[in-house]
Amino acid sequence: MPVAIITGASKGLGRALAEALAARGWDLVLDARNAEVLKETAAAVAARGSRVEALAGDVTEGAHRAALVAAAWRLGGCDLLVSNASALGAEPLVRLAELPLDGLRRALEVNAVAALGLVQEALPLLHAAAAGAVITVSSDAAAEAYETWGGYGASKAALDHLAAVLGAEEPGLRVWAVDPGDMATDLYAAAVPDDDGPRPDPADVAPAFLRLLDERPASGRYAAPDLLEGRR
Ligand SMILES: NC(=O)c1ccc[n+]([C@@H]2O[C@H](COP(=O)([O-])OP(=O)(O)OC[C@H]3O[C@@H](n4cnc5c(N)ncnc54)[C@H](OP(=O)(O)O)[C@@H]3O)[C@@H](O)[C@H]2O)c1
Repeated sequence: MPVAIITGASKGLGRALAEALAARGWDLVLDARNAEVLKETAAAVAARGSRVEALAGDVTEGAHRAALVAAAWRLGGCDLLVSNASALGAEPLVRLAELPLDGLRRALEVNAVAALGLVQEALPLLHAAAAGAVITVSSDAAAEAYETWGGYGASKAALDHLAAVLGAEEPGLRVWAVDPGDMATDLYAAAVPDDDGPRPDPADVAPAFLRLLDERPASGRYAAPDLLEGRR
């Protein structure tokens, strides 16, 4: 069975991806900081028949990243690495004039530095896989100048650029940056608490990611709404 590592998999998009891959028979390594929530999610995912290794920890810690890759190795390897865990830098979001610099540092550390650290750790297993792939979860805030989204957007722009260069440097892999579009999740609620307008459920966005795995387009940046056309 193919094996995926998904960071930030206890809820939101990460959990939806874990459930979608489990339904296809993937084995999974899942992480998040809150051990209780992660345990509940892992049990629900395992109930679909997958082998699941759930490791509570913070992606910014090197020892935790090494443990995630070691867990994948125990399951047989690493066919897919999904860097999905994310930090906003300020909750709720604030304009750049008020953005705490430590918040910006945290967003860069979680969203870009840790994602690259995990790729570095997993590269030998990804290259050993028949069809190794990396997915980095981006945001339209990486490309558009939305007020208050500057720090988070800068960290996602950094992640996009790392993904683009990785795709060029590692032609044996597929490296896809994916903008999932707005979703109804805790992250969005923390970012903009007053905005309770309707948003897609992450479970309805997960098929966009499955399309990448099915069709294996060239490495590059993709938007979920485009990938979902004709898939729902
Ligand atoms: N929701 C949107 O509208 C939207 C739009 C564009 C892009 N995105 C992107 O989509 C991805 C998923 O976000 P979401 O909306 O699904 O958020 P979410 O529901 O809040 O889930 C975030 C997940 O990441 C985990 N996490 C956060 N920081 C972590 C860390 N340092 N180490 C390990 N795990 C960590 C959280 O668990 P713990 O808190 O227990 O660690 C949780 O499992 C993110 O990359 C986000 O930037 C979201």
